[in-house]
Amino acid sequence: MGLLQLPQRRHPVAAPSATILLTAVLFLILGYAPPAAYADCECGYLAIINGSGASSDHHHHRALFTDLLETNFARRAAAASAGDTGFPKNSLWEEEKEKRVAGWVRQAFNLTRERARGEYGEMFAIENVGYGAAEEALGLQLVVRGGDDEVIDGMVPVAELDTRRLDLMWGTFRAMMKVSPVKGTCAAFFWYFNDTQEIDMEFLSKDFNASNRSYPINLVLQSREAAMAGYDASATGNFVRVFLPFDPTEDFHEYRIDYLPARVFFYADGEVLAEMDGPAVPSSPGHLILQHWSNGNKYWSGGPPTEDASLVVSYVKAYFNSSTAQRQRDWEARCPDPTAPNAVCEIPDVTPTNRSAAAWFFSDHANMTNNQTVSEQSKASRSTEVWSSIIGWLLLVGGYAIAL
Ligand SMILES: *[C@@H]1O[C@H](CO)[C@@H](O)[C@H](O)[C@H]1NC(C)=O
Ligand SMILES: *[C@@H]1O[C@H](CO)[C@@H](O)[C@H](O)[C@H]1NC(C)=O
Ligand SMILES: *[C@@H]1O[C@H](CO)[C@@H](O)[C@H](O)[C@H]1NC(C)=O
Ligand SMILES: *[C@@H]1O[C@H](CO)[C@@H](O)[C@H](O)[C@H]1NC(C)=O
Ligand SMILES: *[C@@H]1O[C@H](CO)[C@@H](O)[C@H](O)[C@H]1NC(C)=O
Ligand SMILES: *[C@@H]1O[C@H](CO)[C@@H](O)[C@H](O)[C@H]1NC(C)=O
Ligand SMILES: *[C@@H]1O[C@H](CO)[C@@H](O)[C@H](O)[C@H]1NC(C)=O
Ligand SMILES: *[C@@H]1O[C@H](CO)[C@@H](O)[C@H](O)[C@H]1NC(C)=O
Ligand SMILES: *[C@@H]1O[C@H](CO)[C@@H](O)[C@H](O)[C@H]1NC(C)=O
Repeated sequence: MGLLQLPQRRHPVAAPSATILLTAVLFLILGYAPPAAYADCECGYLAIINGSGASSDHHHHRALFTDLLETNFARRAAAASAGDTGFPKNSLWEEEKEKRVAGWVRQAFNLTRERARGEYGEMFAIENVGYGAAEEALGLQLVVRGGDDEVIDGMVPVAELDTRRLDLMWGTFRAMMKVSPVKGTCAAFFWYFNDTQEIDMEFLSKDFNASNRSYPINLVLQSREAAMAGYDASATGNFVRVFLPFDPTEDFHEYRIDYLPARVFFYADGEVLAEMDGPAVPSSPGHLILQHWSNGNKYWSGGPPTEDASLVVSYVKAYFNSSTAQRQRDWEARCPDPTAPNAVCEIPDVTPTNRSAAAWFFSDHANMTNNQTVSEQSKASRSTEVWSSIIGWLLLVGGYAIAL
């Protein structure tokens, strides 16, 4: 498990022709800065649960989460397509492992048609997960290959990406996604521990009907196998089909799961779609999965698609508590006083009328993700940051010298 591989204090990657003065200044900034009494957000991130809209004022409450994992796939896709060499195409899963930053793992495994419970098996392959633009939407693409000649040894080529960390126990998980309009796939964003502890948001593209603007999403607290086997889960309250108020294939929207003790909330653009409780609510640590698949099962995914279908993910933001004793001790150590100013940061919410929170990443701000598994800044922007603070210092020092 790659959890305990956190970045050390950041040092500049390269210091071209550094003068002694620069080195000294760097030393000052990085080595001898007095320890701050408090860093922003060191006691965690606060989520508004059950909707932040005025209509639910009496019903929403707050939950604190100690850990953070934010991934801005759209920015990575833009950098990759611009040929930013400081930002290799596959840095998320290859280079970053070296940099000891937690991230995501592309999956490679095959399911026979018996295991997949469909007309076809499924071939999860890493080349079906990558950066790029699908229909001009930039982000991480999870592709289901379409067309008869795409089926390989009876398997449909499909895609899956999992978080490296497996210790997410309670959290608010948010994915900004654009779903494929191509019929015959299942696009899923879910939290997973095992086949009976799973929280799912699933889109079946064959069920979308543009002529009556019908766009269902399936919200499930149980195994995919059970749902596909045709169990009547709807009676148990662990399966809900909700009609979205928008076309999920037309634009990006934020899909969100709040996994809390004994309660789960599902959202689209910050509006609650469903809330579930009871014994089916999981109680284990788990991880996040993005998946796009098809196995020809006419009761679920349908398909396989007749052309390539892309699920495009622009970001995932996860704020959560860790099940590991180490991370709990880390939190206690870095959070001497949760009531101190800015010790706790509120997570801004995307709403149907205000999407500005989509652009907010705590990890874009120096000092708001102390000792977290952030992985966001490219080398370029990181060194820009370091260099601008050096230039700032030089100006300051220079100005001071002139004033003297
Ligand atoms: C981090 O934040 C704290 C409190 O907001 C501040 O005192 C400190 O100077 C900041 N440190 C850096 C390196 O920005
Ligand atoms: C969530 O809000 C709805 C109304 O907006 C309310 O009926 C429900 O009881 C709330 N749930 C919780 C757990 O507070
Ligand atoms: C997460 O952990 C913190 C620190 O232990 C705790 O205060 C908070 O209530 C926990 N959140 C949930 C949802 O249990
Ligand atoms: C999946 O099956 C394909 C085709 O038979 C094979 O080339 C590939 O190596 C298999 N992948 C794994 C992870 O076993
Ligand atoms: C999943 O984990 C729970 C808790 O450990 C366990 O009770 C359950 O049997 C497991 N389910 C499966 C399918 O292994
Ligand atoms: C879509 O909805 C329209 C209007 O309700 C209906 O006539 C049509 O049969 C539906 N299409 C499919 C594929 O179900
Ligand atoms: C639209 O058509 C689908 C069938 O394609 C049907 O299941 C659904 O109930 C219809 N929705 C509305 C709002 O009429
Ligand atoms: C930061 O996190 C790591 C990994 O959990 C831990 O080993 C380290 O002690 C933490 N540092 C601080 C200052 O909390
Ligand atoms: C839109 O959302 C942002 C982030 O949550 C918030 O700061 C801003 O005040 C909101 N704007 C309006 C007009 O409500």
